[in-house]
Amino acid sequence: MHPRGRFITLEGGEGVGKSTNTTLVCEFLRERGLEVVATREPGGTPRGEAIRELLLDPDELEPLDEDAELLLIFAARAQHLARLIRPALERGAWVVCDRFTDATFAYQGGGRGIDRQRIGSLEALVQGALQPDLTLLLDMPVTAARERVVARGNAPDRFERERGTFFEAVRQAYHARAAAAPRRFEIIDAARPLEAVQAEIRQRLQARWSLWNT
Ligand code: TMP
Repeated sequence: MHPRGRFITLEGGEGVGKSTNTTLVCEFLRERGLEVVATREPGGTPRGEAIRELLLDPDELEPLDEDAELLLIFAARAQHLARLIRPALERGAWVVCDRFTDATFAYQGGGRGIDRQRIGSLEALVQGALQPDLTLLLDMPVTAARERVVARGNAPDRFERERGTFFEAVRQAYHARAAAAPRRFEIIDAARPLEAVQAEIRQRLQARWSLWNT
């Protein structure tokens, strides 16, 4: 029987470099001969990606209700877990996911102000006991991160249109999640040049890797 694969998530606000660093984590693991599945939330499966479109569409003709937003996120997550994440972990693959449920506690909990217990009950319903083995929280001041997003020049999606105070609350909620699960989280200072950030991520992965393989 295969040992179960590991589940690694990357978290943080907009513009902190999650996508670039997700690729780095995948490379690190592939170099060690592992099967790696790179994925993201919301999304990760065709139906999940369709739900993502609904969530990010800034169409203001029909504002999206907060509970509808929350349920769509968990609907996409249920599909993602059933179709991609759990089967991959069960066959021994390592799953590297750009955002997961900590993002829901940060954006819907911190940003929107939805009660954490309501989010927690959906988490229990959809995930059962499954939690990431490691979460890399890429952290940097909100203003600098927003400058990076603006510099990309893309039309802002429904979340990127939120105000600075929303993203301050998101950042704070991420810190609260990390404080509540210090063994699962590694907080990375993402304000530094990319090379320094990547060197630290490699170092932290190496430390975990030795731990996981003893
Ligand atoms: P991305 O642009 O970083 O891929 O993420 C898409 C947006 O979805 C991002 O603004 C954060 C938001 N989001 C939530 O609000 N809650 C969630 O649970 C997840 C996974 C993402």
